[in-house]
Amino acid sequence: MKIITASNQKGGVGKTTLLTLLANIFSQQPYNYSILIIDQDSQMSTYKRRQRDLKLYEEIPTYDVITLNLDDTTTFVKQTVLEVISGTVKKDEKDRAYFKTEFSRSVNLLDEKKINNINQALYNYDPNKSIIDNYDFIFMDMPGTLASEESLKPILMVSDAILMPFKPSDKDIESTLDFIEVMLKIRAHRKKYDLEFPIFSYLNEHINTTDFKIAKKFSDLLIKKEITFSNVHLRRRNIYLRITTMMESFLSMANKDSENDKNIAQSLEIKKFTKEIEEFLTKVTELPSVLDLVNA
Ligand SMILES: Nc1ncnc2c1ncn2[C@@H]1O[C@H](COP(=O)(O)OP(=O)(O)OP(=O)(O)O)[C@@H](O)[C@H]1O
Ligand SMILES: [Mg+2]
Repeated sequence: MKIITASNQKGGVGKTTLLTLLANIFSQQPYNYSILIIDQDSQMSTYKRRQRDLKLYEEIPTYDVITLNLDDTTTFVKQTVLEVISGTVKKDEKDRAYFKTEFSRSVNLLDEKKINNINQALYNYDPNKSIIDNYDFIFMDMPGTLASEESLKPILMVSDAILMPFKPSDKDIESTLDFIEVMLKIRAHRKKYDLEFPIFSYLNEHINTTDFKIAKKFSDLLIKKEITFSNVHLRRRNIYLRITTMMESFLSMANKDSENDKNIAQSLEIKKFTKEIEEFLTKVTELPSVLDLVNA
């Protein structure tokens, strides 16, 4: 199980959009990973999107989405994930019972079928096995408001990789810089446990060449800090506004729209971006790449 966290203390940069797309890609062939999205948005945007999609589509969602507030996620992290990852926190029976109650209480699920699945999972809770072992990936969708550094820390601490979109405005970059300081502290802390803390950043919603210039200056600094900076920048496009929580992936969307000549650039952007993310995740999670899977 790997925890991939989309984060940036600045709101509205594209975290939820990105994780929805990645969940769609990685839950489908050839990956078929089991994925849990933990939506920590106070507006429950992924939850609402899923409700909408359930009305629109017949297909069964291939991944789970739960909503937890930041405090409950921290509880979740402290009680279970930290132990699994670092092997340093030991739980006794009492803690386990506490976690189980708290987790059941705070989980908001998206449809009855999923409620049953998760309830079943909790019911069958194996004391030697955490519920998180049921997933290949947990995607943490961090809240967009300026949450305090202290409240973000536990979740960042247990993340195997960070995905950090940012927008090309001075204001966005200023607050992203503040956030990077927080992440560098976390990186130093994880190092003490011999844990890596890879960060993937990319420019989202650019519209013109001025945006590129701003991003270029910023990217030099990121690279100096050993933060991966994507070569692909995502433009402001309607296609990203049409993301659903159902079966559509980046690639299927790209292919569909590339039937129209006008959208070839968009299709290329999506494919290249997907490839970069895949490469990054493959490296940091030691998962087989799509080529390995296809050839297997
Ligand atoms: N490249 C893009 N082109 C067009 N619209 C985009 C793009 N990226 C994101 N958006 C839109 O911008 C809005 C904010 O994106 P999103 O909700 O993914 O950001 P977020 O970081 O999760 O926000 P929050 O901090 O509020 O949780 C959404 O309406 C989304 O559809
Ligand atoms: Mg969001």
